[in-house]
Amino acid sequence: MPVLFDQLEQVSEQVAAWKQQGLRVAFVPTMGNLHKGHLQLCNTAQKHADKVIVSIYVNPLQFGENEDYASYPRTLEADQNALKSVGVDALFCPNEAVMYADGVAASTTVSVPKVAELWCGASRPGHFTGVTTVVCKLLNIVQPDVALFGEKDYQQLYIIRRMVHDLFIPVKIIGVPTQREESGLALSSRNQYLNKEERQRAAFIHELLMENKAQLTSGQRNFREMEQNAVEMLEKRGFRPDYYAICRVQDLQLATDPAETEWVILVAAHLGAARLIDNCVISLRNAV
Ligand code: PAF
Repeated sequence: MPVLFDQLEQVSEQVAAWKQQGLRVAFVPTMGNLHKGHLQLCNTAQKHADKVIVSIYVNPLQFGENEDYASYPRTLEADQNALKSVGVDALFCPNEAVMYADGVAASTTVSVPKVAELWCGASRPGHFTGVTTVVCKLLNIVQPDVALFGEKDYQQLYIIRRMVHDLFIPVKIIGVPTQREESGLALSSRNQYLNKEERQRAAFIHELLMENKAQLTSGQRNFREMEQNAVEMLEKRGFRPDYYAICRVQDLQLATDPAETEWVILVAAHLGAARLIDNCVISLRNAV
């Protein structure tokens, strides 16, 4: 089993001891309910460092009032076994009093401007401030050499990179490719809110992204029309799309320039009780 810590000092002492031995430390922050995608983060972490520490903390600050904070699956025992199976060294599971000693509402927050208000930030106001605040706190506690995040949460990864860059946080951020089911559905803890039929239908999001990728690759540049068609196709299949946006990679603003050679398509859509997000990067850089 990975050694379990719930206090800040235990983590600092352990990481300091590792560093004193000249060992590199990788950190994988999670909200638990671990699936193969998380384990892939741990496997990648092991390639970049000698010791891997994972955190499990369901962060109240990143959930909206009507969101699933209370019902978010908490599965510590299964998570510990999963982490053991991939040889993770330590697990940090703080409680709210540790992470927000004076209460969540009284905490100093960290916000990345502009980009955090787009897309998921527009549908979930305050969400990214919650994410950057808790990630900043966790990075300050752990002080790892590298920290790993999944590329499924593309906007989150972009925003965390910006925060680390802007605040000179001494850590290297590594993005890890999205793990998918055979159907193409991106792995996510929230997939368990889908019933069997919805789970099959949910794979359409990836299909749609691949279709638009092929269209962009073959020269189609009617961005807004492509987005509109995608939204209509999702609605026809019973999704309730939040957004479907063909964006510039440099700032995640809507793509407008047909001469660009790199885009990311960002999508969020509700299906049944689940809110699903996915993305696809299209780069013609090597093709031109
Ligand atoms: O992606 C997640 O699971 C969370 O947003 C994170 C990065 C662990 C912060 O709570």
